[in-house]
Amino acid sequence: MTEVLETDLTPDETGGEATWWRQAAVYQIYPRAFADSNADGMGDLPGITSRVPYLRSLRIDAVWLSPFYPSALADGGYDVDDYRDVDPRLGTLDDFDTLVAALHDAGIKLIVDLVPNHTSDRHTWFREALASPKGSPARDRYIFRDGKGPDGAEPPADWTSVFGGSAWEPVGDGQWYMHHFAVQQPDLNWNNPEVREDFLHTLRFWSDRGVDGFRVDVAHGLAKNLGPTLPNQAELDALPKDGNHPLWDRDDVHEIYAGWRKVFDSYDPPRTAVAEAWVAADRRARYASAHGLGQAFNFDLLEADFDAAQFREIITFNLELAKASGSSTTWVLSNHDVVRHATRYGLPPRGPGAGGGDHTAEKQGRQWLLARGAEPVLERALGLRRARAGTLLELALPGSSYLYQGEELGLHEVPDLPDEARQDPTFFRSGGFDVGRDGCRVPLPWTRDGVSFGFGDAPADLPQPAWFADHAVEAEDGDPASTLTLYRRALALRRELQTAERLTWLDVDGDDVLAFGRPGGWLCVTNFGADAVELPAGEVLLTSAPLDDDGRLPGATTAWLRE
Ligand code: NOJ
Repeated sequence: MTEVLETDLTPDETGGEATWWRQAAVYQIYPRAFADSNADGMGDLPGITSRVPYLRSLRIDAVWLSPFYPSALADGGYDVDDYRDVDPRLGTLDDFDTLVAALHDAGIKLIVDLVPNHTSDRHTWFREALASPKGSPARDRYIFRDGKGPDGAEPPADWTSVFGGSAWEPVGDGQWYMHHFAVQQPDLNWNNPEVREDFLHTLRFWSDRGVDGFRVDVAHGLAKNLGPTLPNQAELDALPKDGNHPLWDRDDVHEIYAGWRKVFDSYDPPRTAVAEAWVAADRRARYASAHGLGQAFNFDLLEADFDAAQFREIITFNLELAKASGSSTTWVLSNHDVVRHATRYGLPPRGPGAGGGDHTAEKQGRQWLLARGAEPVLERALGLRRARAGTLLELALPGSSYLYQGEELGLHEVPDLPDEARQDPTFFRSGGFDVGRDGCRVPLPWTRDGVSFGFGDAPADLPQPAWFADHAVEAEDGDPASTLTLYRRALALRRELQTAERLTWLDVDGDDVLAFGRPGGWLCVTNFGADAVELPAGEVLLTSAPLDDDGRLPGATTAWLRE
C-alpha cells in the first residue's frame, strides 16, 4: 500500500517570487558566533558580509538572522534595547544595508528575528516605566502588578519563569513586573494600542530596508488575559491550552498577526513570517494561516529519536497539518536553543513521544549536558553519521528546511565550556546546575589554525575546543567525504529536484527503512537500522555515507535516487 500526501499548493507550484518561502532552505546565522571582522571576539555584520561567498556556495535560499539589535546580551540578543537599530558591537545600519545588498546580489533572501513578547530592561519604554508612578501610561506598556503582603513585598503570584526562578521582579515601590524569560526581559502588554502600533512601525522599518521576512519569537506568548485576581502556578498548569489560557497560545493573539499581514501584503513581493510557537501540533495551523504569519515552525523532528517509526509518523502528520492550513510545512533538526542533532543522535534514544511539544519540556540531550558531557557516553561518529542521514532525509521532504550554522560542518555540541565563559541565563538562573544552550553557540571554525580558528583575529568569547580544527571550513572544503561537501551537493541537487509539495510513501521491507518518492522521479531512502538493505531500482544521485560493496544501503544512511 502506498500513501500519497499532498499539501494545498499555490497556483505557482515551483515557488515564484511570492511563494519562495514554501520550500526554501533557510540557514540560521547566530550573528555573534559566525564571523568576527574587528577582532573583539564577537561576530558582527561585516563578518557575515565577508562570508557571503561561503553562503552562496551552500546554495541556500535564505538566511535567518538571529537578533543583531542593541542588547546587553542577557539572553543572547533576545533582550532587545532598540528594535530599529544595530548593536554597535555588530556594526551600523549602513553595515546592515550592505549585508542585505550582498545577500540579494548572491540570490539569497534575508529573514530577521523579531522579539515582540518582551523588550530588554534597557529599552527606553522600560526605563520610562521604572521612572513613572504606579498606574501611569508608561507602566501600562508592560505587565505591572502590586505585590502581596505588607508593602507588597511578595510577588503577585508564584509563577516560575521559563529560565527558572520567579516570573515576577520587584521594582521597589510595592509593584512587580512580569517576565516569562530572564529578569532583563519584561513582557510587553499587547493590550496597549501603542505597543501594537510601534511593532507595525518596526515591521515597516525593516521591510523598507529590503528584509524579505521575519521570524517571530515566542509568537504564542504575546496575548495575555490577566484579570485582577491572578491564578497560581498549579492552577495555570492545570488549565487546558485551548485558546483561552491566560498566558499561552490564546486565540486572540491572531488578531495581532492579522494586522501584521496587512503590512506584509503591502509589499511586493509580500514579506513573509514564520512563527516560533511551542504549541500542540493541532494548534499550529492557526499561526501558519495565510491571514496571519503564514508559516510556523514544526519542532517535532527535533524532539524525535533517529527512528523510522517516529520519523514516519511525524512526517505524515505534519504534511496533513500543512494541507489543513494551506501553508507548507517546516522541518528543523537543530537551532540555537537545542543540543545539536549530531550529538542527540549519538546518545541513547528516549522513546516515542518523549518531546512533549513544550518549550520547557525535558530536552533531548539535557541529562548529558547536566553531566557536562560525561554520561551517557556520546558515540560521536555514529551521531554524526545519523545526523548526515537525517539531514539528507529532511532536505528531500516537501516544505521548508531550517538549517543551523555549523551543522553543515558536522559540529557536535560543546558540553564542557568553562563556567566563567558561560552566557546563557539558564545557567545563572539555575545556580549553575543547568548549563543551558551555550554549547551550540560556540563560534564557527573557519580555518584549522589561528586564535579562534579563523572566526576572527582574537579569541572567541565562547572558547572553541581543539576538536573544532577538524571541522573547520578549510579542513572540509573540497573533501568529497566531508559533511560540508554533502550539504553543498544536497542543497544544489535539491534546487534541481524540488517540485510540487507531494510525497508518496513507498513499500519497503523492514521496519527500519523509510522510502518515499517526490514528483519527477526523486526517491529518498533512509536506513535507520544497522543492517544493509537493498535499494530500489534507479540512478543513485547522492548518499550520506558510501554504499557497501554490493551497492546496498548500509545502516544509518540515506540515499537519493532518480527513478
Ligand atoms: C526563543 C528563542 O529562540 C530563545 O533563544 C530565547 O531565549 C527565547 N525565545 C526568549 O526570547
